[in-house]
Amino acid sequence: MSVHYFSSVPQAGHRVREVTVTLRGRTFRCLTDRAVFATRGVDRGTRLLIETMSVGEGDVILDLGCGYGIIGLYAAALAPHGHAHLVDVNARAADLARENAVRNGITNVTVHAGDGVEPVGGIVFDLILTNPPIRAGRATVLRLFTGARDVLRPGGRVLFVARTGQGARTLARHVASLFGNVTELAKGGGFRVYAATREPAGV
Ligand SMILES: C[S@@+](CC[C@H](N)C(=O)[O-])C[C@H]1O[C@@H](n2cnc3c(N)ncnc32)[C@H](O)[C@@H]1O
Repeated sequence: MSVHYFSSVPQAGHRVREVTVTLRGRTFRCLTDRAVFATRGVDRGTRLLIETMSVGEGDVILDLGCGYGIIGLYAAALAPHGHAHLVDVNARAADLARENAVRNGITNVTVHAGDGVEPVGGIVFDLILTNPPIRAGRATVLRLFTGARDVLRPGGRVLFVARTGQGARTLARHVASLFGNVTELAKGGGFRVYAATREPAGV
């Protein structure tokens, strides 16, 4: 039976392992498990997004589809006066993200298990980071981006990464029609990182 990474309650057995990640001069040791994205180590696209992202020290951040939490943990470390909310529909991933925050001494995070932005409704974000679940299908991905736009403050940004061979440029066009803008920030290793800004009301 194939095991995918976006079940809300995965039925697959456990195979917990620890991965070590060093990026931007900081090392995290994180637990991963079966039925969670990138169980053998940090995805190359995720790495490119972490290396590219600029984070304000006081930013309120959303890691949308956090997996075991690595993007949100780096973002929280870069925002010592801010706070990162990490959301994943996969309860096993959310549990790992929570434990990984504790194991790495990151206290300015809150992890939520749930669908899209539903668990963080009412919070206004400066920055949303996502390596979106392309395998969950275009309808799900576009729903996540629509939700992201709606919880960003005017002038706030969403940064996302996608594999060029899995439709990164097409996704960027969809995001451009949703936000009115999109910019390519980086590319490498078969991935592209983009940013879109929520335009101020009335624009
Ligand atoms: C490509 S993975 C990225 C995981 C992690 N951010 C990383 O870079 O390692 C996408 C994540 O989105 C999650 N996801 C899928 N559908 C979702 C939804 N409707 N709401 C929240 N998260 C979702 C998946 O469970 C998965 O963990």
